[in-house]
Formats: sequence, C-alpha cells, structure tokens
Amino acid sequence: MSQNSLPAAVPLDPEARAALDHFAARLSPAGLWWAAGYLAGLAQAGGAPAGAVAATAAAAEAGVLVLTASQTGNARRLGEKLREALAAAGHAVKVVAAADVNAKQLIAARTLFAVASTQGEGEPPDEARGLWELLAGRKAPKFADTGFAVFGLGDSSYPLFCEAGKFLDERFATLGAKRLLDRVDSDVEYADEAEAWVAAAVAAVPAPAVRAVAPAAFSFAPAVVRDADKDHPREVGILAAQRIVAHQADRAVVHYELEAGEGFAYEPGDSLGVWPLNPTAVVARVAAHLSGAALDAPVVRGKHERPLGEWLGEQLEITRLARPFLEAQAERSGAAELAAVVDKSPAGAARLQAFVATANVADVLERFPVQAGREWNAAELLAALRPLAPRLYSIASSRAAVGEEVHLTIASVDNGAASGHLWQRGTAANGNTVRAYLERNTHFRLPADASQDVIMIGPGTGVAPFRAFVQERGETGASGRNWLFFGARHFDTEFLYQLEWQQALKDGRLNRLDLAFSRDQVRKIYVQDRLREQAADLWSWLQGGASLYVCGDATRMAPDVHAALLDVAQQQGGLEVEAAEAWLAELAATKRYLRDVY
Ligand SMILES: Cc1cc2nc3c(=O)[nH]c(=O)nc-3n(C[C@H](O)[C@H](O)[C@H](O)COP(=O)(O)OP(=O)(O)OC[C@H]3O[C@@H](n4cnc5c(N)ncnc54)[C@H](O)[C@@H]3O)c2cc1C
Ligand SMILES: Cc1cc2nc3c(=O)[nH]c(=O)nc-3n(C[C@H](O)[C@H](O)[C@H](O)COP(=O)(O)O)c2cc1C
Repeated sequence: MSQNSLPAAVPLDPEARAALDHFAARLSPAGLWWAAGYLAGLAQAGGAPAGAVAATAAAAEAGVLVLTASQTGNARRLGEKLREALAAAGHAVKVVAAADVNAKQLIAARTLFAVASTQGEGEPPDEARGLWELLAGRKAPKFADTGFAVFGLGDSSYPLFCEAGKFLDERFATLGAKRLLDRVDSDVEYADEAEAWVAAAVAAVPAPAVRAVAPAAFSFAPAVVRDADKDHPREVGILAAQRIVAHQADRAVVHYELEAGEGFAYEPGDSLGVWPLNPTAVVARVAAHLSGAALDAPVVRGKHERPLGEWLGEQLEITRLARPFLEAQAERSGAAELAAVVDKSPAGAARLQAFVATANVADVLERFPVQAGREWNAAELLAALRPLAPRLYSIASSRAAVGEEVHLTIASVDNGAASGHLWQRGTAANGNTVRAYLERNTHFRLPADASQDVIMIGPGTGVAPFRAFVQERGETGASGRNWLFFGARHFDTEFLYQLEWQQALKDGRLNRLDLAFSRDQVRKIYVQDRLREQAADLWSWLQGGASLYVCGDATRMAPDVHAALLDVAQQQGGLEVEAAEAWLAELAATKRYLRDVY
C-alpha cells in the first residue's frame, strides 16, 4: 500500500476504493487536505456535484493565499499553522513560499496573509529577494479586491526591527489591497502573538461558500511519517566526530556523522536543526550572580516553574546576548560603556553588533557588576533572558551516497552552545545523542535538469552543502558540470575535505576547483578574487545556463561575492551597472542564483 492510500475499513466498493487510492497516491499532504475538504463539501451538498463543485471550486480559486518569507523556518512554520487553522474553518487555502509566488497568484487571492522574517540588516530572507523587486518595481501587481494582513517576525536587538514585515504591509496597501488586520511586529518570543494573530486572521476571512469539514474530523486521514521538526525533535546518535583541520588552525572545524533514519528524509540543500545545551561552566558563572540561589531551586518564568539549573542549562540563551538583558544590566550597573552599547543611535547599533559577537551573559555580569541594592533575583534575570533557540547546520551529505546518515561541517565557537554541546556529546564515551530535526530549505536546491552546470561558492564551512551537491550529482549520474570555489586562511591547515575534492576531480565528479587561501601570501586572496580572475569562464558557464550557489558568511563574503559577480557581468557581458544588476536579479528570480548565508 502506498503512503497515501486508505486503510481497509472504508465504505466504498472495491472499484471506487481503487480509484480513490490511485487518486490519493498522487497528492501531496496539502493536496490531500484540500481534497478532503472538497469531498466533504460535496457530501454536505447532498452529493449533488454540480452546485457544490462550482461553489467549492470558486472558493478554491478566489481563496486564501498564505505567503511565507522565511530564512530559518519560523515564518514558514507559522504560515503552515495558519493554513491548518483556515482549512479547519472550511476555507480553501494555499501556502506559497516567497521564492515560488508570482504576480498572478497574488492578484488572484481574495485574501492574502503574509508572514515574513527580517534578515541581515533589515533585509528580506534570501528566498524573497525576487518578490521584493517585483513589489517595488514597475511590474508590481495592482490589487482590486484583495484583503490582506501581515505578521512580521524579527528581533528587537536589530536596529531595523521587522523591516520585511513593514515593507510588505506598506506595499500591499499602496498597491490597492485592503488591510484586514493591523500589522504585527513580533519579537523573539512570538508564540502568544502568533496564536492571537492566527485566531484573528481566521475570524477576518469571510465564511466560505461551502463549508468544508475540518481535516481533524476525518478518521481515515492516512498516517504519514512526519519529519522530525523544531517542535518535535528526535534524539539522534552521533556516529563520528572528526576534527578536519590541523591543530595549529585558528579555529577547530569538526566533521560529524549522525544517525538519520525515520523523519530525516533530507535532500541536498536542507539543514539540520540542533537543540543545544548551554555549557555548564557558563551556567555556573551566571548562577553565581543570583545571590546564592541554588541550581535546583524552583523559579517561575512566564507560565512555567522549573529548577534554576534547567532554565539556565536548557531553556534560555546565556551564550548569546540580546537587547533586553543588556539594557537591564546597563541600568543596574550604571556602566557608561554598556549604556553606549544599547544606545539606539546608528553608532550604538554598530557598537551593539560588535559587542554581542564577543561576549555572553556571564561575561557581561562579571564585567559590568550591578550597583549595591540593584542585585538580580533569579526570576528577574530569567525574565530578561530569551528562550534558547536551535542552531541550524547545512547538511554536508547526500542520502544517495551515505544512506541513513547526516553529515555536518561545524566550526567550533568558544563557549558556543551548540558547537560545544555537539563536540562534548560526540566525544563522550556514553550518551552521545543530540536532539535534532530536519529544516527543509526548498529554495536551495540543485537544478531539476541534471544536465545543467552548477557553480558553487563556499568558503569555510560554507562548503558543507556543496559536499552534499557533489555527492548527489555523482550518485545520480548528473551529466552537468560541477565547479567549486573554496577558500580558507591556509592551505596546509584548513583545506576542508581536501582528499575528497582531489578524488572527485580525478573521477570526474568535480570538473573544476578554484582555491583561495587568504593568508598564504602577503596580499590577501578571497573567493571573490578568484571569481574575477576566472571571469571569462564564469561568464561562459552562466551564459550556458549554469546555476550559481553561494553558502557561508553573510556579513562580508556574500556581499563581496555579489559585487564580484556584477563586475564579471560588466566586464564580460559589456553591461552597464544597472543592466548588470538587472541580470543578477533575473538570475535570482529564475532560481539560478541561490544563497544560503548566515
Ligand atoms: C542556515 C544556516 C546554516 C548554517 N550552517 C552552518 C554550518 O554548516 N556550519 C557551521 O559551523 N555553522 C553553521 N551555521 C551557524 C550555526 O547555526 C551557529 O550559529 C554556530 O555554530 C554558532 O552556534 P553555537 O551555539 O555554537 O554558538 P552560540 O552559543 O550561538 O554563540 C556563542 C558566542 O559565540 C559568538 N559566535 C556565534 N557564532 C559565531 C561564529 N560563527 N564565529 C565567531 N563567534 C561566533 C556569539 O556572538 C556568542 O557570543 C549556520 C547557520 C544558519 C542560519
Ligand atoms: C543573521 C540574522 C539577521 C537578522 N536580522 C534581523 C533584522 O535586521 N531585523 C529584525 O527584526 N530581525 C532580524 N533577525 C531575526 C529574525 O527575523 C528572527 O530570528 C525570525 O524569527 C527568523 O524567522 P525565519 O526563521 O522565518 O527566517 C535576524 C536573524 C538572523 C539569524
């Protein structure tokens, strides 16, 4: 029996059942839910297809569109929750990712809900760059009869808070859509606001012409094996933890091999989410500032009571800093230096960015002691800290090559919650599991046409997904060529997966490898320099239809690579600056310039 087919106790004659089995096997989970509602609509209309079909189909055509723009999955998950709630209320609803939406779909929606996160410095998620250009440009859709509402996800530690949500809200209104709900700008703890917004969104949509039955009412919903997800992680075993840089390298980089059976049916381009535990040394340093509170003392935060040690070890961020705690500590300590860090001017924003990259909660408590009489009690401190978030890692393997394993390439961060936890568990004699889940990254995929060439730019740990790409293309016999740009500081100590790349070159799985070791000579050389040096070939590959992928550092590498690509287009294609920008935007819009940067 296929995954989507029906169990035996269904009141249908064998022929009808076989037909239904056949039909169901072709549908995605979303298609199955829609069909369930559609068929229920027919049943409620007394089985009279014509009227019911027409009404239900009309609801589907002029239905509700949920648009998600997400980098690390939060917006996508909230969009999915909204879809479930709307479907349960009987609405025909479709979820579409920003990478896949077009103007026609936007205009066709009677009701448009958007959930968007903000990335970089107030930028949209990578997958939404094409949509942003569309909405800001001359070809922007004009809405006539569309109602809309926007939920923005963000982090108030960033100066441009929820900028992406603000942009969509403004654009939809300016382009003629009618605002159904006030925009929500949500901070890191957004669960309660999201729940309220979903309820308000469902209430804001006009009742469907034919009320479909809530999916939950169907007792014969097929049991589909769910991916492990953020809210349902699984314990996975660490099979290997191997340092892959020399000991004198500036930073340890570790190759991990984890078990990945049921619930981890990943594709090249996907990431693994890992729930960390905070380092015990940092937990102890933070607890030491809570005037003698014991780690097993129960403390209430929000709706929950847990031992202090559990809050600090498993529930809240203490290795990463955020504005609410820093503002409170600046106030309690009276330290001018800390006050300057949380100052809301543009200069303050730059100071904050630099500061959070180099310190954690324990460091701040120690360096900027509170004034007498302003000591923290445990509940106050916990309230100022943020919930612990999982860390994402690009998957560095293809299931076609490694079977039920997931490989990761992780740079160790000093006192890093996840990188430290993985290393500690990976090298422990017993209990070497971590809580993990699959984070799909559907906008970062190999070309569907295996004869297309791919160009991969992945310095440092950015090379991880390209190990997966090369494995996959090798295993599936893809005929397109593969070109990798890799960079690190030193050839001798930091050439990640050197032997594998050399073998891949030898056996034809990799066609070209260009290397940039920045500190092996007086003049620093980076991957973007190699791109410029190889401009003629690069242009020729791209003109021939190659897809271009960039992974790794978002702050410096990705913008520098972008600038180098514009130079290549100007130099080789004879394009003016604006035309080169339009060319690169078009490459992104047609999913031939894809980035996964962090
Ligand atoms: C989509 C995506 C894919 C990713 N893929 C990979 C990957 O393949 N390999 C990989 O190694 N990482 C990857 N990352 C980064 C990863 O998710 C973590 O951010 C990183 O491992 C640090 O997490 P941590 O819990 O160990 O450190 P944290 O506990 O988050 O940080 C501890 C301290 O170190 C500082 N810090 C954080 N990150 C860094 C850093 N990179 N360098 C220096 N200091 C830092 C912080 O400011 C903090 O003070 C990816 C991120 C995303 C969003
Ligand atoms: C690298 C990075 C940059 C971010 N930049 C911003 C920002 O400029 N403004 C903001 O409000 N939030 C910012 N955020 C916070 C995200 O918007 C927030 O974590 C959101 O929940 C992510 O949702 P997603 O998983 O759907 O991408 C940033 C997060 C990351 C990881």
